[in-house]
Amino acid sequence: MKCKSGTGDRAGLHVGIIMDGNGRWAMARGLPRAIGHRAGVEALRRACETAPELGVETLTVYAFSADNWSRPQDEVSALMGLLRRYLEGETARLIRDGIRLSAIGRRDRLPGGLPDILRRAEAATAAGDRLHLRIALDYSGREAILQAVSSLDHHERPDQEAFGALVTGCDDVRDVDLVIRTSGEQRLSDFLIWECAYAELYFTDTLWPDFSGRDLEHAISNFSARERRFGGRPGETPKHAKQTLLPSGPGPG
Ligand code: FPP
Repeated sequence: MKCKSGTGDRAGLHVGIIMDGNGRWAMARGLPRAIGHRAGVEALRRACETAPELGVETLTVYAFSADNWSRPQDEVSALMGLLRRYLEGETARLIRDGIRLSAIGRRDRLPGGLPDILRRAEAATAAGDRLHLRIALDYSGREAILQAVSSLDHHERPDQEAFGALVTGCDDVRDVDLVIRTSGEQRLSDFLIWECAYAELYFTDTLWPDFSGRDLEHAISNFSARERRFGGRPGETPKHAKQTLLPSGPGPG
């Protein structure tokens, strides 16, 4: 599969977000956790509105991990219902805003109808070129790597670029530049572990439903002030390191 984002030597940012804290946000208000997830969808909308203005070309969000199936059935159903409503109700807005939606992760365990709804949303938004929104669903980074390994011809050792294309499902591999995790937790939780090899990590105590466009701006400006070394010495970014294009300023180096 050909991915439109991040193909050149200089490209927009790929930001990954672990949208954490919906449950705590709801509980702090004496509300059911499902309401927290619903508020989380609003926060996702805000992030999608702001991201392109901040130089983000690809936004990958962790909506449901392969391990989230272990949550109580009513919460899993609420999340799947929310996803269904999001895909059905949001497609027109995504098209209007030039947002291309795609999903990563397994589809065969999603409840009936959802894989088709997903396919329709992907097809309808395929021409979007302002932002590529990737929703990680029933997703596990380790499983994505295992899946890639199992598709290999075992007599041949692929290079990192070819293998990365298998892991990500994209011909043009795009590493993650920045991972944001909300709610004070500081771990990757099996999110894009291949693609995050050189990602910068940004943690905030803000709970995901409270995360605003300003918060995203703050995270990206914090990122852009960092020096990325890719194994090189300070001030000497190795030639092989892909550079990202930020809307202003010198870039992350
Ligand atoms: C983690 O918070 C969040 C999730 C497991 C689900 C994230 C889903 C959304 C933001 C909304 C759905 C997205 C789409 C695209 C429809 P948590 O529930 O673990 O929070 P807690 O740690 O406070 O309990």
